[in-house]
Amino acid sequence: MRALVVYESMYGNTRAIAVDIAAGLSATHQVTLVPVNRATPELVAASGLIVAGSPTHMHGMPTGATRRMAAEAAGRPGSGLAVDPDADGPGLRSWLAGLSARDGLAASFDTRFSGLAVLTGRASQGIARLLAGHGYRLVIAPESFLVSKQNTLLAGETGRARSWGALAGEAARAALAASERS
Ligand SMILES: Cc1cc2nc3c(=O)[nH]c(=O)nc-3n(C[C@H](O)[C@H](O)[C@H](O)COP(=O)(O)O)c2cc1C
Repeated sequence: MRALVVYESMYGNTRAIAVDIAAGLSATHQVTLVPVNRATPELVAASGLIVAGSPTHMHGMPTGATRRMAAEAAGRPGSGLAVDPDADGPGLRSWLAGLSARDGLAASFDTRFSGLAVLTGRASQGIARLLAGHGYRLVIAPESFLVSKQNTLLAGETGRARSWGALAGEAARAALAASERS
């Protein structure tokens, strides 16, 4: 089965996690990894599994306004932040809104600050809701990967992303086998 890993990332954390999720998924799937501005309808149509992720901004998925805030923060002298070369474009929220309805499989993830999700919010919940709203069946619970207040991924998060990708791949394979039996 083919899987499409699609991500939005302003500073590179979500991209780094997406790379490891794709590596984990490759045990069970032929994986294509793309930033959201290159996730074409043709790639979606060719994929039995969509795995989508973004940073958490203002407790949820990024918006045009929060993306501008992120770019402005990176532009401040001494910020130590750099905007990802693929950060241009409308973002995952608009991409999901324009997704064709389809009976496919999906999973969602985010990056966010370390801490209780009720306090930080988590974009993966909103992504999951939008995917489900377009007919996608979620094969695994939404997952967050954590960063420090200095905006660096916590130790072990890329390894956890690889394991989660592998689990999502297994779950998608099992879901497909079950639907073929019924
Ligand atoms: C404008 C803005 C708002 C943010 N709001 C939240 C938030 O509400 N909760 C949270 O946990 N993290 C928040 N963060 C932190 C990001 O989720 C975190 O740094 C993420 O890893 C960035 O991912 P990226 O490097 O892929 O852009 C925010 C970051 C920015 C720039």
